[in-house]
Amino acid sequence: MPATKVVVSIPDEAPYDVRIGTQVLDELGASLRKIPRAGSVSRIVVISDSNVAPLYLAQAKDSLVQQGFRVSDIVVPAGEPSKSIEVLGEIWEALATLGLSRDGAIVALGGGVIGDLAGFAAATYMRGIPCIQVPTTLLAMVDSSVGGKTAINLEAGKNLVGTFTQPAFVCASTAVLSTLPEREWACGCAEIAKSALIDSDEFFFWLCDMAENLAQREDQTVTEAIARSVVFKAGVVAFDQTESQGIRECLNYGHTLGHAIERLAGFGTFSHGACVAEGMRFAARLAEDLVGCPSELTRTQDELLDVLGLPVLDWCAEPDEVLDAMKRDKKVRAGKVRFVLPRDVGSWELLHVEDETIVNQLKAWFKAKA
Ligand SMILES: NC(=O)c1ccc[n+]([C@@H]2O[C@H](COP(=O)([O-])OP(=O)(O)OC[C@H]3O[C@@H](n4cnc5c(N)ncnc54)[C@H](O)[C@@H]3O)[C@@H](O)[C@H]2O)c1
Repeated sequence: MPATKVVVSIPDEAPYDVRIGTQVLDELGASLRKIPRAGSVSRIVVISDSNVAPLYLAQAKDSLVQQGFRVSDIVVPAGEPSKSIEVLGEIWEALATLGLSRDGAIVALGGGVIGDLAGFAAATYMRGIPCIQVPTTLLAMVDSSVGGKTAINLEAGKNLVGTFTQPAFVCASTAVLSTLPEREWACGCAEIAKSALIDSDEFFFWLCDMAENLAQREDQTVTEAIARSVVFKAGVVAFDQTESQGIRECLNYGHTLGHAIERLAGFGTFSHGACVAEGMRFAARLAEDLVGCPSELTRTQDELLDVLGLPVLDWCAEPDEVLDAMKRDKKVRAGKVRFVLPRDVGSWELLHVEDETIVNQLKAWFKAKA
């Protein structure tokens, strides 16, 4: 099957391609040769993690070497703790030791952790060199590799330091998804379901029809789900690159409760995607009461999430504790918790919701699950 291409065009930024397909990793070097922004690049450092590197680093490097690039690599431990000042500092030092200069570029080969970390290193090293995103998780393909957010974490919270810097190119190889663990697969599916519901009838009902195929990782469906999600995200980012217009907030659908669960249950207890899916179920119920979301939509969304391997979480807590956890989120304004609430498929509202309403809805949700 030939590769699928989506062009991301964001105002005042150079447009870039997202290539999706089974062969695109082997064609990485050749693709870079065609990118105007990489025209003067002769050195490339591939940054990857300790899980991904043994699987795909050699393939990525071979493809680049074949096109005449001088290639080095930096491998960091897999996992969220690598998005730290310490690891970033080690990467900056390693880039300097390798002698990377302004004719260099960075390839971020990995999931969202590597994308954010290597993207930030590229955005800051020598005041910015091109970054090529090679996402290897479904989540990174449908979400984090597109849109230009880069970040590391601080002790005080996640993603507190970073930049908005668009990549020069995104290379999404569906072949690498064959080794992705089921838990990580479902994380990507949660973001696809979120995008589809916020986007349009066309995307959402297509996904409902194709959910079984997506859960089975059928290649054509996977490719189309990635392409549709990228088109959706690129459209949102084009309107609101720096999250200043309130439009990019729609990407947080399901995340208000999702983040609170991650915090209360302990990071890693449930996957991020499982928490987002739970948050979507809750937000749809809240939306029924507050913005007239049809109950039929809540049911359809429930069924979709079930098929995608994102069942209702076996988790409850004191509603007041959940509210407190929501208030510690960095997206809270003036102590008010905000929710992205669907009015219907393709139509949403960002609402400050009263504490009492949230607590009552949580009580009802936990009771319904009991
Ligand atoms: N920049 C953005 O817009 C944005 C958006 C969403 C999330 N994020 C960030 O993304 C991160 C989460 O990303 P993630 O879910 O991809 O996690 P991740 O990068 O930690 O990857 C998940 C796990 O899968 C492994 N892995 C990756 N690809 C694999 C493959 N093909 N085969 C086998 N194992 C593989 C990784 O080593 C890791 O253990 C978070 O730090 C989050 O803040 C950023």
